[in-house]
Amino acid sequence: MHYSRRRFLNHSAVLASLAGFLPGKILAQSPLEKRNDATGLATGQPIPLAYPEIPGFLSAAQLKVHHDKHYVGALKGYRSLDEALHGAPLDPALYTTKSRARTHKANSVFLHELYFSGLTARATLPDEALRTAIQQRFGTIERWWEDFQAAAKSSRGWALLVYQPLSGKLYNIISDNHGNGVLWQAIPILALDMFEHAYYLDYQNDKGTYIERFINHIDGQEVSRRYQQARQLSF
Ligand SMILES: [Fe+2]
Repeated sequence: MHYSRRRFLNHSAVLASLAGFLPGKILAQSPLEKRNDATGLATGQPIPLAYPEIPGFLSAAQLKVHHDKHYVGALKGYRSLDEALHGAPLDPALYTTKSRARTHKANSVFLHELYFSGLTARATLPDEALRTAIQQRFGTIERWWEDFQAAAKSSRGWALLVYQPLSGKLYNIISDNHGNGVLWQAIPILALDMFEHAYYLDYQNDKGTYIERFINHIDGQEVSRRYQQARQLSF
């Protein structure tokens, strides 16, 4: 379903008090259509960057080093460890090390793909179901954004919006490393990478500005699609 101009303006009014949230053009594709490639955890191949640069947020150099070195590096590490763990029997000490490392790399791959696929050149609006869920949980979208920013500022790794089918609730959670701070059975639907490698070329130590500008580049339609998928799970 595409947003009409009138609905778009109504939604803009709801979000108007969010400084910097400038929902721009609605993307041409069906809003909830999955547009990114399958995860590298399944294919072994990295997903491509949808945008080589995001003017006003992240430069081509920043995105390239993040994608090509950190994300692709994590995927290569995961593949090598996964093969090793399914190959010749390992001694117990080696197995322990490699098994932990594989989990670390797999979580890094998954979260980087969530981060990159949730970014867009100009923000798109979340759909009504997600907007309502955020308002019910946090009071207002503005309050959710304040909470998310607080999580990001205190994080040394990731700030995540997750949906947990067990409780039926949304949470903003902090993960200082790819696998720390996990809320079990929760499904991450939005990620902000707070490792320095994600922003240091463009922002140096000014991570606050990096966080503030993120709102202008959240693909709300992609987050809504992930929320719809997560809502289909039950326990
Ligand atoms: Fe990263």
